[in-house]
Amino acid sequence: MNAEMKLPKIALGAWAWGNDGTFGNDLTAESLHPIFDTAMANGLNLWDTAYAYGMGTSEKVLAGFLKGLPRESYLISDKFTPQCADASSKTAMKDMIETQLALMNLDRFDIYWIHNVWNAPKWTEELAKYFEGRDDVPMLGVSNHNLAEIKQANEILRSHGLKLSAVQNHYSLINRSSEDSGILDYCRANGITFFAYMVLEQGALSGKYDTAHPMPAGSARAETYNPVLDKLEILNAALKELADKYHVGTAQIPVAWAIAKGTLPIIGVTKASHVEDAVKAANVTLTEEETAALEKLADSLEINAIRFWEKVMK
Ligand SMILES: NC(=O)c1ccc[n+]([C@@H]2O[C@H](COP(=O)([O-])OP(=O)(O)OC[C@H]3O[C@@H](n4cnc5c(N)ncnc54)[C@H](OP(=O)(O)O)[C@@H]3O)[C@@H](O)[C@H]2O)c1
Repeated sequence: MNAEMKLPKIALGAWAWGNDGTFGNDLTAESLHPIFDTAMANGLNLWDTAYAYGMGTSEKVLAGFLKGLPRESYLISDKFTPQCADASSKTAMKDMIETQLALMNLDRFDIYWIHNVWNAPKWTEELAKYFEGRDDVPMLGVSNHNLAEIKQANEILRSHGLKLSAVQNHYSLINRSSEDSGILDYCRANGITFFAYMVLEQGALSGKYDTAHPMPAGSARAETYNPVLDKLEILNAALKELADKYHVGTAQIPVAWAIAKGTLPIIGVTKASHVEDAVKAANVTLTEEETAALEKLADSLEINAIRFWEKVMK
């Protein structure tokens, strides 16, 4: 762990690496290895995963790439997904953490999350009990929590001498409810890092997809975004205009926007070029006028980007 560890500007997400049907990709360790190597060579060494991403598949693939690397050369962010735990076991938290550590061949995580709010106070209490008094406490975080739930989690951790260090929520140009509900402000005021996931809306804000080129049929993301590709085209056109100004690709602008908003974006990467793009995005500084104009346009499109596991943060 620790609360003082140096985080890169961007984390990389390995959900798609779990091949669980969300993305419509068929990724192999062979095709993913160059992505990992490119990222590490460019200082992007913070990897976000979860047991739920293919029931251990994403973690195992990542573990294969970590083999033999010095432990201090990478950071692993993993999650406790309540729905994956054996709630009937008295040691469900310990069992899950130990299963995940074994899957990844690690002896500690750098960041560990309660993945969602399903019985979250109980699980946060279990998490706190597990780490209380240990010297390998990771940054502790909660995901998909609203402001009241975040405060409650922080209280539970505090009562065990621990602290909430991170929040991970959906945050993009077309879903700013974590900002509107005061979560970003609360995080800033309390020294909590806000990790923004789905900044690219699973590729819908990358400029790659439009009405003539929809997302892969049969995938969960296609169901969500293909019906609104006409609206997304309008936003992607504005992103492209800025991208041309900064001599980058369309996909770098939402990432630069998330950084400009003071968040740490987690970008899902399925190609080495995505990592190269992410590296460049970290060097684009949008002006306040540019971020405001993008937000105004995105709001005017009224796209509902809340996914089945999420809620509007109030
Ligand atoms: N805590 C939670 O509940 C939660 C929920 C969702 C995500 N997450 C985390 O956040 C990470 C990111 O989310 P995500 O992967 O769902 O969505 P995302 O980052 O918005 O989108 C990733 C997808 O966008 C495309 N892409 C990425 N970089 C690109 C580039 N430079 N140019 C063009 N296309 C690009 C790729 O898809 P194609 O190339 O196939 O189009 C990639 O699979 C996840 O991997 C996971 O670690 C957490």
